[in-house]
Amino acid sequence: MSQCSEDIWREKLNEELKTTSYIYDNVNLLFSTARDNDRLQQEQIDSFINRGVDLLIISPNQVNTITPAIERARRKGIPVVLFDRKTESAHYTAFMGADNYQIGRTMGEYIAHLMGGRGNFVEIRGLEHSSPSIDRHRGLVDALRRYPEVRLIDSRAGDWSEGSGSRVMTEMLNSGDRVDCVFGQNDRMALGARKVLMDRQPDSKARFVGIDALATPGGGIREVKDGRLDASYIYPTRGDRLLQLAVNILEHKPYKNENLLESAIVTPDNAEVMLMQADEMRLQVDNLKQLHAHVDRFLARYNYQKVFLILIILVLSLLIIVLFLFYRGLSLRRRMAEETANAKLKFFTNVSHELRTPLTLITAPVEQLAADDTLTDGQRSLLGVVKRNTDILLRLVNEILDFRKVQNGKMTVHLAHFDLSPALRQWTAMFEPAMKKKSLTLHIEVPDHLFVLSDGYKLERICYNLLSNSVKYTPEGGEIWIRATQSGDRFAIVVEDTGIGIPEDKLKRIFERFFQVETPYTNGTGVGLALVKAFTEMLHGTVTAANRQPQGARFTIEFPVSQPNSDASQTAGVEETERQMAHEEAVDTQKANAEMLTASEKQEPRKRILVVDDNADIRAYLASWLGKYYQVSSAADGREGFETARREAPDLVMSDVMMPVMDGLELCRRLKSDVTTSHIPVLLLTARDMDDSRADAYNCGADGYIVKPFSEDVLLARVKNLIDSRQQLRDAFGGGSDGLNPTKEDKKFTVKLREAIQQHLDDSDFSVEQLGGELGLSRAQLYRKVKAMTGQSPVEILREARLRRADRLLAMTDKTVAEIAYETGFSSPSYFTKCYKDYFGCPPKDAGKGNRKGKEQP
Ligand code: FRU
Repeated sequence: MSQCSEDIWREKLNEELKTTSYIYDNVNLLFSTARDNDRLQQEQIDSFINRGVDLLIISPNQVNTITPAIERARRKGIPVVLFDRKTESAHYTAFMGADNYQIGRTMGEYIAHLMGGRGNFVEIRGLEHSSPSIDRHRGLVDALRRYPEVRLIDSRAGDWSEGSGSRVMTEMLNSGDRVDCVFGQNDRMALGARKVLMDRQPDSKARFVGIDALATPGGGIREVKDGRLDASYIYPTRGDRLLQLAVNILEHKPYKNENLLESAIVTPDNAEVMLMQADEMRLQVDNLKQLHAHVDRFLARYNYQKVFLILIILVLSLLIIVLFLFYRGLSLRRRMAEETANAKLKFFTNVSHELRTPLTLITAPVEQLAADDTLTDGQRSLLGVVKRNTDILLRLVNEILDFRKVQNGKMTVHLAHFDLSPALRQWTAMFEPAMKKKSLTLHIEVPDHLFVLSDGYKLERICYNLLSNSVKYTPEGGEIWIRATQSGDRFAIVVEDTGIGIPEDKLKRIFERFFQVETPYTNGTGVGLALVKAFTEMLHGTVTAANRQPQGARFTIEFPVSQPNSDASQTAGVEETERQMAHEEAVDTQKANAEMLTASEKQEPRKRILVVDDNADIRAYLASWLGKYYQVSSAADGREGFETARREAPDLVMSDVMMPVMDGLELCRRLKSDVTTSHIPVLLLTARDMDDSRADAYNCGADGYIVKPFSEDVLLARVKNLIDSRQQLRDAFGGGSDGLNPTKEDKKFTVKLREAIQQHLDDSDFSVEQLGGELGLSRAQLYRKVKAMTGQSPVEILREARLRRADRLLAMTDKTVAEIAYETGFSSPSYFTKCYKDYFGCPPKDAGKGNRKGKEQP
């Protein structure tokens, strides 16, 4: 809004514009006032144009001065609304204002009426080249034409200000004419003139008429009401309609180019009413303003709060993001550490698996060598070095495999009732040589007996780890304590040393996921302490580490004396059986090995063993070692093993579990379901960490399994036991079952064999080939199978069956020996007699006389 002047009329207009702008959300008003200065107004308009206003409202100071600025705005596409005053240029968008010509006319008429149709009056015009001044004058002059006796004796231009009214009046009075009425083109000038005239001629009855009729104090309406003016004309501001017009233009709504504002004359007759109305209006406007101020305040507060809220949300979001990133970083690091640890463990596990076979290949021959009496002391001590170091390697390997098992949830607890005290002494004794070497003093403080229900293997591993740590990190001449105590239903094992201790800040985390905390006590594979914790927890115990004063470390593990949720008697029973078995196995081992020697001395036909293993070294090792006692053949995988077994029908198959092409379990399953091989005992060599392997082995029908790495003695004993059991089974064949249970396949085979024999008893032409054909076996296969199962050849079995039948016939019929011989399939009576005598110890004619040596058949 570019205002030409600064006065209360324009202030009122500006106020109305502002108030109206509240209705619109998107209107922002800017105001400038040129204070009647043409150049200033031009500059102000230009500045608005430069600021990129969307629309200009202009009250031009004079008709011709700001035309170029308006042109510039139009060229920039800015709509221009002229208000109240006009310009020469018609290049504006719209005009709004009163009809000043009409106002001039109305005032002319009223003045004529006021003067009773005659008299002198003067006119004080507004600014010379402002459009209202020109138009009002025209209107006035036109109206006066009808009143020839109303004479306009003087008309001079002021500049709309009160001062200009006084000045012009002074000039006019100087002419000396009587003035009956003064018409100021606005109230201000009329009042300025009045002051001068009444000053000069206090008795003057002159009338004063103005324009604007503002309701403000000192405004036209009040002046009319108070009698200082005789009339005024409400020169309308109507900011509301002006803004509406501007918005319509901006929003491309229909609007009119010429918008004339209606108004009315104010005389003493209506001045009071008008004033009241105006006051009322102002009151409303004030209310509105107050309301708006309230709303503004609320809005400001709301905005402030909004900004505050947004800030808080922003800060919170940032915080959350930072926390999230931090947490993610942490968990990423943790995951990465975990993955690395897992990868390491996996790698170690694989390596451990790989190491076990060569370790077996080292330990077993070393044990064998050590047993040689002819060794020199030097050689023996060298072997001791090898043995100790392979033991260490084996222990490390087993530790890693154990830990992996714990991690995979495959580690199981084997509970037994036992006395912990002697066990602890025994476990500690293993460290004596190492302690002696470092001059460490060991204090064992355990009660005479401490009966617990626990897992001996795991407790041993726990103590082993703690003790080996202490031995390792206690300097020469130091002390180590191992204590066991019981209080109530809990027992504790404490391992304490005068070693280097554990950094305080690492104490709490020393058992955490391995590989993460590096302290002397957790170095190496890093598995040791993690395993201690895992085993302790599996046994419902707790483990803590602390530093001793002034130096050293203390590890305390605490357990319940009996394990929760365990059926002690049952587990003890199981354990008892296992122990019994272990004992028997040991006794057997000695017996077996002794027998083995005598057997080899006796030069009995050697039993045959088939070794199936994909590792050529293992095959070679087993062949060379077992070869002392057995006839050994070998195969590199399950399939080859199966073919060989079918072909050779060995007395025992010893097979590795993990093999390419066909694994040991599958091989076993096939052997046990093939009639040619179903009778052959199978011994599986399983890896130590395969917990399910025992179940797997038995499920596939294996007769036994041995965990790698194995001791030669144990293996030899198992081999012998299995072959002997087969012998027992063979002895029991046909007459119950004392030894190993025959397989389903073998039972079926036995039934079929018996049936086939019974059917052909009287057929002397019935051959072994035919028998094999009926049982689905070749002559050789039938021979091996029957021989392995019964110890006899098929021919012998067939003959035996015939002889028994003959024997029954001899006892129960009156038939002759010759008749019976033919009836039971013997080709001649003499051959029958020979066979009968060989089998029963007496000739057939003496049958039933009680002096026979042959076997009685139930
Ligand atoms: C206000 C004013 C009024 C007059 C109008 C003419 O600035 O001088 O008094 O009626 O302008 O434009």
